[in-house]
Amino acid sequence: MKGSRIFITGVAGFLGSHVAKWALSEGHEVLGADNLSLGHKNNIPGGVQFYEYDLIDLEKNKKYLKSIDVVFHAASYPYDNFSLFIPFRTVQNTFSITASLLSASLFNHVKRFIYCSSMSRYGDNVAPFTEDMTPKTLTPYSVAKVAGENLVKSLSQVHNFEYVICIPHNIFGPQQIYNDPYRNAVSLIINQMLKNKSPLIYGDGEQKRAFSPIQDLIPLFPKLLFGKLAKNQTINIGPDEEVISLNTLVQLLNKILGKNLKPNFKTFRKQEVKLAFCSSDKSRRLLNYKKSISLETALRNLVSYINEKGPSYFSYHQTVELERDYFPENWKQKSF
Ligand SMILES: NC(=O)c1ccc[n+]([C@@H]2O[C@H](COP(=O)([O-])OP(=O)(O)OC[C@H]3O[C@@H](n4cnc5c(N)ncnc54)[C@H](O)[C@@H]3O)[C@@H](O)[C@H]2O)c1
Repeated sequence: MKGSRIFITGVAGFLGSHVAKWALSEGHEVLGADNLSLGHKNNIPGGVQFYEYDLIDLEKNKKYLKSIDVVFHAASYPYDNFSLFIPFRTVQNTFSITASLLSASLFNHVKRFIYCSSMSRYGDNVAPFTEDMTPKTLTPYSVAKVAGENLVKSLSQVHNFEYVICIPHNIFGPQQIYNDPYRNAVSLIINQMLKNKSPLIYGDGEQKRAFSPIQDLIPLFPKLLFGKLAKNQTINIGPDEEVISLNTLVQLLNKILGKNLKPNFKTFRKQEVKLAFCSSDKSRRLLNYKKSISLETALRNLVSYINEKGPSYFSYHQTVELERDYFPENWKQKSF
């Protein structure tokens, strides 16, 4: 499929910029959109034809998606717990933009539409989460993500296009935004620890996740974009081999950084799931998913990246829609 025209949304964000870099290296023509509300322009690799606008704009979507073969839709407001306090903006920037983009994709007869969903779709199902589980949506973010999945699937029953619903979970790596206090746990903790601050953890730190190095996802991109086996499938992407608690993550980072910082525990957040990780069986079967880098090496890479760019203050750039007394204290006080 060399020389395809690929349109990536959220191209200034973490995942979108990695997909763009890979696609350019494979000789594809890469176009991308982002409104820079969360992402950074300097994440966008040279060679991408970049359009800065809000993806809610149907007319612009129709115009820029002309003659596109594949859409990789990574743009979203990827706030899970925080979305409980910004439900309107979450739905607008997760579900509504998906509706606009899908309409424009079908208008332009795009061949394949890759939709990024989220592990939050599984809610408090029993881990490991498998793709056939009934979604349990505990937050506006997961509601919006699952609504987007349903829209993709319902339109595919009538209109002629292929789709893939991929479910990344807890990805981390270079180019990730690390100064947003509302998300990206690994980067956020590293940013704090590099500043010699105790990493802030909600609850007792025993919530467990399978943190997912971006390096492991890159070999999956060609299969998601063009592979026959991925066609019209919903697939978890990421590891299930190493499931660790946040306390263990902090220990590992202390070892890497040569520090001995103790977590600063805060009240457990509403709707946060204790044990959450996805089964990689389907991804091993359909995408030949393999772990290629150890968690420790991948964490070392991210530490170097954040160190090079410089640890930074957190940016409280979001206006909260619902101020409540159970809004996490450190967010209220903008204390980290
Ligand atoms: N990072 C993870 O661990 C993870 C886990 C599960 C799912 N996902 C999903 O993967 C996708 C990519 O995540 P990411 O970590 O790269 O997020 P990110 O925040 O780094 O990138 C998202 C990008 O979308 C852009 N965007 C948001 N609303 C927009 C709008 N209305 N118009 C134009 N651009 C807009 C932002 O500016 C940002 O650059 C998202 O859909 C996310 O929900 C990510």
